[in-house]
Amino acid sequence: MQKKRLVSGMRTTGSLHLGHYEGTLKNWVKLQNDYDCLFFCAVWHAFTDRLKIDRLPQIIEEMVIDWLSVGINPEKTIIFRQSALLQHAELSTILSMFTPLGWLERCPTFKDEVRDEETHERVSLGKLQYPVLMTADVAVYKAESVPVGRDQLPHLELSREILRRFNSNYGEIFPEPKEVLSDCPCLPGIDNRKMSKSYNNSIELRETEETLKSKIHLMITDPQRVRRNDPGNPDVCPVFAYHKIYSPLRLEEINSGCRTAGIGCRDCKNILFLAINEILEKFRQKRFEIEKKPGLIKDILMHGEKKANEIAESTMTQVRKVLGFIE
Ligand code: TRP
Ligand code: SF4
Repeated sequence: MQKKRLVSGMRTTGSLHLGHYEGTLKNWVKLQNDYDCLFFCAVWHAFTDRLKIDRLPQIIEEMVIDWLSVGINPEKTIIFRQSALLQHAELSTILSMFTPLGWLERCPTFKDEVRDEETHERVSLGKLQYPVLMTADVAVYKAESVPVGRDQLPHLELSREILRRFNSNYGEIFPEPKEVLSDCPCLPGIDNRKMSKSYNNSIELRETEETLKSKIHLMITDPQRVRRNDPGNPDVCPVFAYHKIYSPLRLEEINSGCRTAGIGCRDCKNILFLAINEILEKFRQKRFEIEKKPGLIKDILMHGEKKANEIAESTMTQVRKVLGFIE
């Protein structure tokens, strides 16, 4: 049976952390078997909230290396840079004409950010247009499926409305993309706030054994558990939130150990360190193999961009024709 086509991107804002892995990449790796996947570095989207990205070429290269090291397979999957496929920009411009301003202003991700006059002056047009560019990213490949977290559902609904509006004027050119929902286990940062590079609280995919160990030992625990003998409450402890993902078989033991002060935080963290390190060690080994082959990433991108270009160009030829740009 013909597989459905699925498109997804990741913004090139910096190095990847465990949140990217648990929330996105792990899912991408699985999706490769059931869909014809295209995964891209969302280079333009990365600029919606910053004007400069230092070392962008290196960020892209490292991002692709990290994708491969966690199991993205360039033999199955098309990997490319959004910035190398100008058809995304062309289609985004066209679709922006089909998008009423009100739809974009009402989009929750935008509305939440632009609350007052001051932020209104600061937020870019690109940010407002973010969902239009996303729509183009997907539609230019006529993809039927997009993996999203629940929070991104409004974006996808907007995409469908934009494409419906295009189709109702020009015929069934674009399929309406459907969500492939993934339950994204929420990983807090080591300080129990949202994991984010800007809070400096993330666990990176490229941690060494030493930096991983020190980060885990810096993690916040239940603040009520001051002394070794104080019982703790795992429900408020970020270490336990990680155990839910990384130590599923020992969860009950850790849970009751914490509540009865049977286990100390140091040992509890050590169990976590070993579990995460085992995973990161696999990535390190794979990365080591990839880095032995200079030029590999450039070749993969060149190959992926050639394939993506064929699909995107064929869609755009059709779009240019129906709009009357070419005959
Ligand atoms: N918005 C996504 C993110 O925040 C990146 C992205 C851009 C994307 N275009 C897309 C995801 C199209 C899925 C489909 O990382
Ligand atoms: Fe957190 Fe583990 Fe300490 Fe309990 S024992 S407070 S779960 S680190």
